[in-house]
Amino acid sequence: MSNQSKLSPLAAHLCSRIKDEGSLPFSEYMAECLYHPEYGYYKSSGSRIGKYGDFFTSSSVHALFGRLIARQLIQMAQILGDKSFQVVEQGPGEGHLALDVLDTISAEAPEVYDRLSYTLLELNPQNKTRQARRLQSHANRINWCDKQSWSIPSGCFLSNELVDAFPVEIIEKQHEAFSQVYISCNQEKQFVEEFRTADPKILDYFKWLGVGPEKGNRAEVNLAAPRWMREVGSMIQKGFVITIDYGYPSEELYAPHRRGGTLMCYHRHQADDNPYERPGEKDITAHIDFSALMKAGKEVGLSPSWFGEQYRFLLGLGFIEELIRLQAQITDEQEAMALRMTLKNLIMPDTGMGETFKVLVQQKNVAQCKLLCDRPIRDVSMTHFQF
Ligand SMILES: C[S@@+](CC[C@H](N)C(=O)[O-])C[C@H]1O[C@@H](n2cnc3c(N)ncnc32)[C@H](O)[C@@H]1O
Repeated sequence: MSNQSKLSPLAAHLCSRIKDEGSLPFSEYMAECLYHPEYGYYKSSGSRIGKYGDFFTSSSVHALFGRLIARQLIQMAQILGDKSFQVVEQGPGEGHLALDVLDTISAEAPEVYDRLSYTLLELNPQNKTRQARRLQSHANRINWCDKQSWSIPSGCFLSNELVDAFPVEIIEKQHEAFSQVYISCNQEKQFVEEFRTADPKILDYFKWLGVGPEKGNRAEVNLAAPRWMREVGSMIQKGFVITIDYGYPSEELYAPHRRGGTLMCYHRHQADDNPYERPGEKDITAHIDFSALMKAGKEVGLSPSWFGEQYRFLLGLGFIEELIRLQAQITDEQEAMALRMTLKNLIMPDTGMGETFKVLVQQKNVAQCKLLCDRPIRDVSMTHFQF
């Protein structure tokens, strides 16, 4: 960027904010890039997910993902056994997951469908319109709420790839002290990093967490995530929370080898680590800390009931059996191969979403129970299975 006239409207807005207020903590820069009411990545009108967007999510890969989650929800509704069962999904994107969940519950458990209400917590009005169109056949089961005005007397709170989009702080541990990244704008109108003594909130966070980055390493701190978890937990009287996202427990997130942190940007299926180019046009994300979510959840009565890799979660819920069933319906070998290649993405560790993605299930005021996802892999029959 060489002069103001070539700046995008969001870059110009950021430069003028920095001029008026001074450098911004990285979390504020990221919040503007993702959520600025007019120019933010998640506020603009285009679709971000799928082949013509910037990235795929598991729910946009194949309906099987939502179908298996629906099976877990059906069991939860049966365990809870109340007159009504609320599912609240935050960050529903294009509504793929909601559609596959609702289709499956209506087909496989009509008695649960009859007592189901499905609430979508959505920020973007254009997404809402697309969700309403996609979910037309379930119009009498769905509603939209803003994030303060929902509650779950008995049910499940669900999110897929939400928490990784919460604005993070970036810190570096230099010697024994933490420095925090602030963003300023130089003469050429480029965004540059400045280091300042870290906000005491960040030091308090690491004291609370009991784990932190190694000397010399750069890392992200998602202060909003535990806050969000406490809010979610306090709005549930009885039920479960399912959080699906990429991330690690604290020890792994802040492990010595992770020297540069986990911040990533996505634009048209290309990943890069430069959030300062094309602000507002790229998704900016960071891996989440599942230990922080578990710890914050416990403070509001949510105890962890299951935590593990997405591939274990899906295998427990019947991924292989469903794959065999779907393949049996296809006579054309090329089509069968295409199906296998697509579904592979959901469970493969290295190239797919199977391992980096984790699933955390928590419960509140629910008696001890064995969840379907907890079925050990050794009990999954691999007869007739091939990839
Ligand atoms: C990566 S997309 C995932 C979409 C969807 N869950 C899926 O599986 O395809 C992240 C979504 O979270 C939404 N989002 C981000 N922050 C949010 C917030 N604070 N409240 C509600 N939605 C939010 C974005 O608008 C976007 O639709």
